[in-house]
Formats: sequence, C-alpha cells, structure tokens
Amino acid sequence: MLDHLKSNNRNWANRKVAVDAGFFRRLEQQQAPEYLWIGCSDSRVPANEIVDLDPGELFVHRNVANLAPPQDANYLSVLQFAVDVLKVKHIMVVGHYGCGGVSAAVDGKRRGLVDHWLHPIRDVAHEHRDELNAIPDTRARLDRLCELNVMRQVRNVASDVFLQDAWARGQPISVHGWVYSLSNGLITDLDVTVNRPDQIGDIGLGEI
Ligand code: CO
Repeated sequence: MLDHLKSNNRNWANRKVAVDAGFFRRLEQQQAPEYLWIGCSDSRVPANEIVDLDPGELFVHRNVANLAPPQDANYLSVLQFAVDVLKVKHIMVVGHYGCGGVSAAVDGKRRGLVDHWLHPIRDVAHEHRDELNAIPDTRARLDRLCELNVMRQVRNVASDVFLQDAWARGQPISVHGWVYSLSNGLITDLDVTVNRPDQIGDIGLGEI
C-alpha cells in the first residue's frame, strides 16, 4: 500500500544525503529553527516548500483557516515551545487567498464541528462588516476577509502572555502577517509586523 509514497521517501532521503552526507545526523542532534509558521491546513499551501526551507528550519503549526485561538491547547503548546524553548525570532501567520475555511465561515451553510472552529472568523467579518459590505465583488470581499483574519490572528499571537513575557525579558521576537496567493505562488506581507507590545495597536484593527 502507498508504495509510490514509500519509494518517493527513499529517493528524497537519498538525494538529501547525496548533497550533504551529514544532513540527517545533524538534524537528529537538535532542531534550531528561527521561524514559527502558523498556516492553513490547505494542501496547496505547503509551508517549507513555499519559503524553500529545509527540514529543521521551520517550526510549523497548521489548522483550518490559520487560526490562533487563545483557548486552543494545541496552538498554545506549539506557541510556548517555539517561544520559550526554541526561541524562534519570527512568527509568521500565513493566510491564503481563496481559503475555503474563510469562505465556509460566512456562507451560511451548516457543516458541523468546523462551524464552531470557524466562529472567530465570523466575529472578524461582523466587526468589519461596513468595510466588507462596501466591496461588491464576492471574491474580492472574501480575499479581504482572509487578510483581516490574518491581522486578527497576528494580534492574538502578539497579545498572548507567552509573547508578552518574552518581550518583557528582552527576547527579540517579531510577529508577521502574510497572505499567500494560490494563483502565482507569491507571498504578500501585510505590513502588520509587531516587534514590541506597543505596536499591537498599529495592526489596523483598533485597540484591544
Ligand atoms: Co485555507
């Protein structure tokens, strides 16, 4: 079963060792990634591949619609490990245009558990309803909601006590908001980077 995947794996491992004989031995000793990627589970948004990074260089957390919910133990565990143990220097929240999770949050259809998971996106849509309703094109409106969702998750990450404590002890760490385009493979930086607690209000969503 799945023989093609096992064969792919052997070929991939062989190629890595052919270029760098100590590649896996080195990674076995420790991981020291500088980046935490919080992205969507969508199969078209493969974290390492998009930014062309090797194993060991990117700590990754993915879920439906790239959320950073302040009560989600899975995300919080990843965040704390990345900040306190790995001491990553950058956290990127990476959304993508055409996100099925974002559109499912606001299309009014019932799907079950995921409707609860996507609740924070409906909150974002409601808070920004005036701006969103002024965009006549549905696709453009959803793309803007993808951006607003990323901005909100950047705020969630930056306002988390793990980040607040890291900054208080002088640890350098930045939180970035990016959106990936499925149509051309390119990332857009939303320019909402937070390097210090007092920049959280500059994200453009108003004060907490
Ligand atoms: Co998505």
